[in-house]
Amino acid sequence: MRATVIGAGSWGTALGSVLASKGDEVTMWDIDAETLATINDQHENSRYLPDIPLPETLRADADLGSAIEGSELVVLAVPSQAMRQVAEQARDFVEPGTYICSVTKGVEIDTLMMMSEVLEDVFPVSHHPYLAFLSGPSFAVEVAQGHPTAVTIAAQWNRVAKAVQQAFHTSFFRPYTSNDVVGVEIGGCTKNVVAIATGLADGIGFDANARAALVTRGLAEITRLGIAKGANPLTLSGLAGIGDLMLTCTSVKSRNYRVGYGLGQGKELDEIQAELGQVAEGVLNAKSVRGLAAQVGVEMPISDAVHALLYEGMSAPDVLQALMGRDLKSEI
Ligand SMILES: NC(=O)c1ccc[n+]([C@@H]2O[C@H](COP(=O)([O-])OP(=O)(O)OC[C@H]3O[C@@H](n4cnc5c(N)ncnc54)[C@H](O)[C@@H]3O)[C@@H](O)[C@H]2O)c1
Repeated sequence: MRATVIGAGSWGTALGSVLASKGDEVTMWDIDAETLATINDQHENSRYLPDIPLPETLRADADLGSAIEGSELVVLAVPSQAMRQVAEQARDFVEPGTYICSVTKGVEIDTLMMMSEVLEDVFPVSHHPYLAFLSGPSFAVEVAQGHPTAVTIAAQWNRVAKAVQQAFHTSFFRPYTSNDVVGVEIGGCTKNVVAIATGLADGIGFDANARAALVTRGLAEITRLGIAKGANPLTLSGLAGIGDLMLTCTSVKSRNYRVGYGLGQGKELDEIQAELGQVAEGVLNAKSVRGLAAQVGVEMPISDAVHALLYEGMSAPDVLQALMGRDLKSEI
């Protein structure tokens, strides 16, 4: 399928590489012209995925209109706070009937809108049935290296989910379909916050017990939020829920885990973010998840603790102590 990927960071480039590995023509676009130039000149994204050769069929175009022209699938892979602006820029170039797949995990901070709501806000109604959302346990670098990966692609129309599934499917990249857009999006935007908590516990020097407790209780609060927002709780037991949570909460490859780890070791947030040099969505998601939880009246103690740590000046040991000292309750 002829595709365009908007956002040539780690994830956009890895997914562009998956699509182009099938021999299809794939065009990348980004605001960063230098990144685009290295894709064309060196067949590599030296900033985000260094030393990984990209397929010859993956090209970059600095002109958004010509990058999108003739595309049957437009993949949106920009940070969540840039999604509205980028979608508005792209809107006039996207032909009716083009599949539009967001692979971004996050919530628009000012409006508390999920990416599906942002895209429905920006694109005319005729495009809405063609919107799809890809999420699940997937580090960009592993996908770009061709390591086996499974994800979920959700769309309101099964036919759309299946078409996008087919477009992404390769011998190493296996998408499953779902019609639970809300569930898939909730899993993606909340897990980064819990990953900051597990990173924090590990950074302080705790071990497997604390990590397993945070992942499990993290899933419990994510599921509560999901149900309140209309998700199928089973989605959160799947790839886009526990799958992504396990991945993000237990690996140093996760930027959000590394943010938590650094804080646990006593580093300042600014210093950690400067070292990362890339987006750690969980830092902003901590604000938006708190907002979403308040909106639907759901208790999310781990996310609240991360918020207290990042934005309310609470110290790392105090945050974990506050979690342990909460009122005792039944598990389910
Ligand atoms: N990296 C991963 O392993 C991974 C995996 C799954 C999902 N995601 C999600 O994918 C999204 C993107 O993450 P990433 O890791 O690729 O981020 P990144 O920081 O690696 O890249 C973001 C890219 O978006 C571009 N960009 C930023 N603002 C833009 C704008 N206004 N217009 C056009 N381009 C703009 C940047 O120039 C950059 O190339 C996030 O929501 C993230 O949670 C990432």
